[in-house]
Amino acid sequence: MFDAEKFIEKAVPKLREEIQGRALIAFSGGVDSTVCAALVNQAVGDQLIAVHVDTGYMRKNESEHVKKMMSSMRLNFRFVDASKDFYDALKGVEDPEKKRKIIGNKFIRCFEKVAKDEKIKCLVQGTIAPDWIESGGELRDTIKSHHNVGGLPEDMELRLVEPLRDLYKDEVRKVARVLGLSVSERQPFPGPGLAIRVIGEATLEKTEIVREACDIVEKEIERAVEKGLMERPWQYFAVLIPIKTVGVHGDKRAYGYTIAVRAVQSVDAMTCKYSDISHEVLDDISTKITNTLGDKINRIVYDITNKPPGTVEWE
Ligand code: XMP
Repeated sequence: MFDAEKFIEKAVPKLREEIQGRALIAFSGGVDSTVCAALVNQAVGDQLIAVHVDTGYMRKNESEHVKKMMSSMRLNFRFVDASKDFYDALKGVEDPEKKRKIIGNKFIRCFEKVAKDEKIKCLVQGTIAPDWIESGGELRDTIKSHHNVGGLPEDMELRLVEPLRDLYKDEVRKVARVLGLSVSERQPFPGPGLAIRVIGEATLEKTEIVREACDIVEKEIERAVEKGLMERPWQYFAVLIPIKTVGVHGDKRAYGYTIAVRAVQSVDAMTCKYSDISHEVLDDISTKITNTLGDKINRIVYDITNKPPGTVEWE
């Protein structure tokens, strides 16, 4: 049985030894990086600088939320707006693995820039077990290159420290609860962000659509949970499928994209079961998305695939 208190007891002195001075932490504001930041903060205090990169593929209002989190945790932090850089780098790129590698690479270049300015050589990442298991290598097939493992550039100059490497998500949540972090129950959000929730080329136009759709899915599901209509899924979001179909908005013909709604139950992200959402809630989600996004979206589908054979994210 995983003992979160023992884990913390061992992790803090080990981190002090491993870091030996100053360090950066890649801070997304999710459970993993927040737990990591809290542990490193206990180990080296203000020798730590948290870096949050706005890739342009964040959820609605997410970067503002993350800035507030970093302040409330009293972390030294730097905020990097690299959205133009990320959009440019992904122009014309359709293949999911290529997208993931470009994103992983861009993240590291952003961290290296801050590290150079601050004369820091060590980067802490909140990598957890499924990230490196799914990224493959040696005897394992690459399911998908997680941005923080399989997406790292070969010529990377920073030394990596990854205190959560052997933990699964449910274990990270236990550590978060012991540390008293309110982020403990937050749903996961992948590092590559909305770029892997737009199938194929993640243009600004499509990203804006999926950002709005993800926000609606989150709000409608949370409203249904509050009303007692359903259990809160483990993860819930929207995916833009770049297939256009014919529809009618008002009395006008429309030719818009398709949105897939994904909601899953899981414990550790290694497997998942699609959530049993009532038609009433699905209907609210569908109506809200098509009303809000007008003729850009004509069709909403619900993903009823488990993992395996699907994965949680579509790319
Ligand atoms: P999959 O899609 O592999 O996702 O079934 C399992 C869990 O991991 C998240 N995910 C990622 N998280 N970097 C991350 O930090 C990534 O590159 C990445 N890809 C997927 C996904 O949202 C789910 O919770």
